[in-house]
Amino acid sequence: MEAPAIEGGKPVRDTFKEYFPRISEYEKQLVLSVLESGRLASGVGTFVRRFEEEFARFLGVKYSLAVSNGTAALHTAVASLGIGVGDEVITTPFSFVATATAVLHNNAIPVFGDIELDTLNLDPETIVDKITPRTRAILVVHLAGHPAEMDEIMKIARENDLAVIEDCAQAIGSEYKGRKVGSIGDVGAFSFYQSKNMTTGEGGMVTTNDEAIYRKARLFVEHGSEERYYHTTLGWNYRMTELQAALGLGQLSRIEELNRAREEIARIYTDELESLDGDLVLLPKPRKHVKHTWHIYQVLLRLENLRVNRDRVVEAVKRENVLVLVSYPRVIYENPLFQKLDAYGRGCPWSCPYYGGKVSYKPGLSPKAELAARSVVTLPTLAGMSADDAVDTAKALKKVLLYYRK
Ligand SMILES: Cc1ncc(COP(=O)(O)O)c(C=O)c1O
Repeated sequence: MEAPAIEGGKPVRDTFKEYFPRISEYEKQLVLSVLESGRLASGVGTFVRRFEEEFARFLGVKYSLAVSNGTAALHTAVASLGIGVGDEVITTPFSFVATATAVLHNNAIPVFGDIELDTLNLDPETIVDKITPRTRAILVVHLAGHPAEMDEIMKIARENDLAVIEDCAQAIGSEYKGRKVGSIGDVGAFSFYQSKNMTTGEGGMVTTNDEAIYRKARLFVEHGSEERYYHTTLGWNYRMTELQAALGLGQLSRIEELNRAREEIARIYTDELESLDGDLVLLPKPRKHVKHTWHIYQVLLRLENLRVNRDRVVEAVKRENVLVLVSYPRVIYENPLFQKLDAYGRGCPWSCPYYGGKVSYKPGLSPKAELAARSVVTLPTLAGMSADDAVDTAKALKKVLLYYRK
């Protein structure tokens, strides 16, 4: 058996390579035209509006609102539903922290269900028990690009008079039963961060079919003003620049191609690692009724069959000179922010007298999510990766796992 580099063997690659999105000539032209026009800020030119229109058409929704990043999109989604002080939002504990901090940003309280181990998404069966008189919404995440079980989630929401927010940061173009995510719930939130399936560097989009939600969202991202220097509500400046929107328009025009490249990398990972499936790893298996967009490739290690823990595996794979990540090494509520129960000082919003509820973030709260956080290894499907890059990444993981097999 071949020894991994960390045990004195020869690494799969001699040098480490980073991956960056490739910006097309057309995209460069679009961005350059903004620079040449001098119309840089939101709405001074036409790109933000055009990007919003094109994105709404792509998704099949009535309204899209471009914002500065995905976290701003989520915060705006929460606010535009009127969710705030004293309210609870049920969400998944296995996501990027912004899924839950966006709820805190509007003074509401995140409440965590648990996940399904095959999709790593919020398990609809764990939602109902968490509903209280304070619950206002369910915030689902389509993690890694695999849509959550929207039929069941929408049913629970309608039966309990709850809104549904879709965190689509990792799922641009993903489909659930033929419908694009971000068009199914009451409001969707997208991120165009550098690593996302399409990027504007930093950027985000809020999507909805509801005019009232859209109007509220627009006010929220524009200092609470419809008329210059006249402010009716508390708002933020979450606007997107024309430069971001120009790049976004270009990227959106080839999103199918960008998603296909990720799918191809995922296929290579599955081919290379299939022989370990069920024994040393659990590989992702998309459900039949979804279109997966493979933002990342999540592998769960079967730690009971390995001699070392996940962190040692990841360290060993890195020493093979390939890129490997852990998304996410802990569930959201294990972070100190949630253990301290203090976001704004003096324990707010948890200690807010208008809240009055009691929420638990104790270890063991979401056992499946905790298991996933201990055992997940994330393989990249980044734009800029070649088939060879994917083969070497999978080879490195395979070599390490076979070496450390019990
Ligand atoms: C699931 C999820 N939600 C929210 C965000 C926040 O997006 P952004 O980084 O654009 O603020 C991200 C990405 O970083 C994410 O992956």
